[in-house]
Amino acid sequence: MNKIIPYENLKTSNLFFEDLFKEQFINFLNSGWYILGKEVTKFEENFANYCNAKYCIGLANGLDALEIGLQVFNFPEKSEIIVPSNTYIATILAIINSGHVPVLVEPNISTYNIDENLIEEKITSKTKAIMVVHLYGQIAQMDKIVEIAEKYNLEIIEDCAQAHGSKLNNKFAGTFGNIGAFSFYPTKNLGALGDAGAIITNSEDLYLKIKALRNYGSEKKYYNKFIGRNSRLDELQALFLNIKLPYLDQIVDHKVKLAQIYNQILHQKIIKSVILEHSYHTFHIYNIRTSKRDELKKYLLENGIRTEIHYPVSPNKQEGYQKYFENINTPISEEIHQTTLSLPISYAHTEEDVAYICTVINNFFEINE
Ligand SMILES: Cc1ncc(COP(=O)(O)O)c(C=O)c1O
Repeated sequence: MNKIIPYENLKTSNLFFEDLFKEQFINFLNSGWYILGKEVTKFEENFANYCNAKYCIGLANGLDALEIGLQVFNFPEKSEIIVPSNTYIATILAIINSGHVPVLVEPNISTYNIDENLIEEKITSKTKAIMVVHLYGQIAQMDKIVEIAEKYNLEIIEDCAQAHGSKLNNKFAGTFGNIGAFSFYPTKNLGALGDAGAIITNSEDLYLKIKALRNYGSEKKYYNKFIGRNSRLDELQALFLNIKLPYLDQIVDHKVKLAQIYNQILHQKIIKSVILEHSYHTFHIYNIRTSKRDELKKYLLENGIRTEIHYPVSPNKQEGYQKYFENINTPISEEIHQTTLSLPISYAHTEEDVAYICTVINNFFEINE
């Protein structure tokens, strides 16, 4: 019987923290304070510090972080927002939900991040912001993107849902633009035990407004300065995140080590992602590309190895989104969607797991030479 290797096992990944979760849950229960209490405040301070940002506002999830990150600027209706064409659907949905127009820019085929050389040709008088996504855990070419934003007077919102702790030139994801939006969905490198999200920013004005927006637009109880929403980071999730945050570097180090093993052992026919100079890729996802993706995925499953595809369909080809993207073709994204495969990489996976996965993949390529 082959060994079974899951793509992800959250129970095992969180086992290390279980005693602390239980112990501190009792304190939470006894405190009687369940909404916007000391755990949320502590997490906001600690996460801002971790990212080297001035402010953090805890929110309900990553989609809200992106939506509030747009809403805070009060752009005119139907403003155009530049966004990579191969992102997860949430980035696109945030733009549509905010009443704006997503303008797709193709990614670089080697890094999978927005191709900074294709941005300027998409800028019009209606363009108000660039929503960058640091996909899979690697930061986009922010130096160039910041230059473009300054030249055209655009805001930058960074989707950091996959980039906790990622750095470029020693600068953290979320601190290049005006807003860094995070998700702490349980599978993320810093994952809660439910939904959670946050925004980081260095602007006091944005901080104060976002803090109000997440709580019914209220700065003072029962007075509503803005039309806000309920997107408060849950106090219990903040408690879990406070327990895990000190271990984020340890989690990422482990994943980086596993990625190095993949990079060293995997067959040379496999396309691996290119890492930029001075970039610290945190490998939320370790993906490879091959024209034999579907056959390889099947072969791995037959050998007990579960994989995922991030993502099988590009946002502009999604059934529910057709009306927003009529006649828009994104051949580079298509190529990625048809060839990409995400291999197991988590805190729960071991170096032996990865060595075994490499052996099975290399066998596949030898058989199919
Ligand atoms: C790139 C990206 N953006 C946004 C989100 C949305 O986060 P959430 O699921 O917490 O709303 C995700 C989550 O998977 C994501 O991967």
